[in-house]
Amino acid sequence: ALPKHVTIKEVGPRDGLQNEKVEIDTADKVAWINQLSETGLSYIEFSSFVHPKWIPQLKDAKQVASSIKRHPGITYAALVPNQKGLEAALETDVDEVSIFMSASETHNKKNINKSIEETYPILTQVVEEAKQEGKTVRGYLSTVFGCPYEGAVPIQQVIEVSIRLLDMGVDELSLGDTIGVANPLQVDRTLTEIRKQLSFDQIAMHFHNTRGMALANVLVSLEHGITTFDASVGGLGGCPYAKGASGNLATDDLVHMLHEMGIETGINAEQLTQSALYIQSKLGKSLPSHQMQVCNKE
Ligand code: HMG
Ligand code: MG
Repeated sequence: ALPKHVTIKEVGPRDGLQNEKVEIDTADKVAWINQLSETGLSYIEFSSFVHPKWIPQLKDAKQVASSIKRHPGITYAALVPNQKGLEAALETDVDEVSIFMSASETHNKKNINKSIEETYPILTQVVEEAKQEGKTVRGYLSTVFGCPYEGAVPIQQVIEVSIRLLDMGVDELSLGDTIGVANPLQVDRTLTEIRKQLSFDQIAMHFHNTRGMALANVLVSLEHGITTFDASVGGLGGCPYAKGASGNLATDDLVHMLHEMGIETGINAEQLTQSALYIQSKLGKSLPSHQMQVCNKE
């Protein structure tokens, strides 16, 4: 049986915007996040505290954090790659920090300029300090279903890095199809293998929709009992250090599918569309989600 309720974690303001060339004004980001906060979402990843040279779009993370209207009941999270990022994040009173690394060596190196082995002690320290400060920590694992540089990633390697992240004490682990290459059968096989070694209680799925397979992959994950999914409104998004990575699974398409199937999300679809229209107007291009295509034609 499929779950009755699904938690959607909105990553548009971070994963969505980080790949957009058009620079969005801080005030517009804040207005957009405030709109997202009104939709019934329970989780918003609002920015990242990474090097501004690597991700110029998100260099205003601090101003965004201090300007958004915090809604009780919403977890506001930000991505941090290291100690320096954590310190900046802590100055803003985030609720949760997200650490990230890749299952494949080359993507890890291209994305955060470290080998996998070099990354463990850095992230271990970040988790320890974040926990001391009373924050929850999310872990992202990238290239779970394929790497833009190495191709297929052995499942045992995925499980090994997952275990390291869980052992560090992350509260949740989000498994990323960074470049949107996963197919439903592969998701089925991968989750079957992972389930043998890890509990699903802490697992979320993070699909990109590069090849249009994200919703199909969600359905397979639901059948495995996964109840937390990352998505970005309108299908914004990508990873600038993964060639060919395009938008995330669209929050609006996911909400539509789940509601049609009688699965609750707590999200108001109409308000979600309004927030997608808002950021679309600021980006000056039409967003790729199916819901937005219907909406743009009306
Ligand atoms: P590095 O150059 O190796 O850093 O970059 P470093 O430690 O050698 O320091 C070099 C300089 O950077 C120093 O400054 C540091 O202070 C500064 P200098 O002394 O030269 O003036 N620095 C920082 N500045 C601001 N914020 C920081 C920070 N850290 C050091 N946090 C680093 C390493 C990790 C910083 C860099 O590679 C980086 O910023 N990478 C970010 C890449 C990124 O954001 N990628 C996208 C997010 S991941 C993703 O999208 C995947 C995901 O969605 C899941 C999926 O889809 O699979 C999560
Ligand atoms: Mg991503």
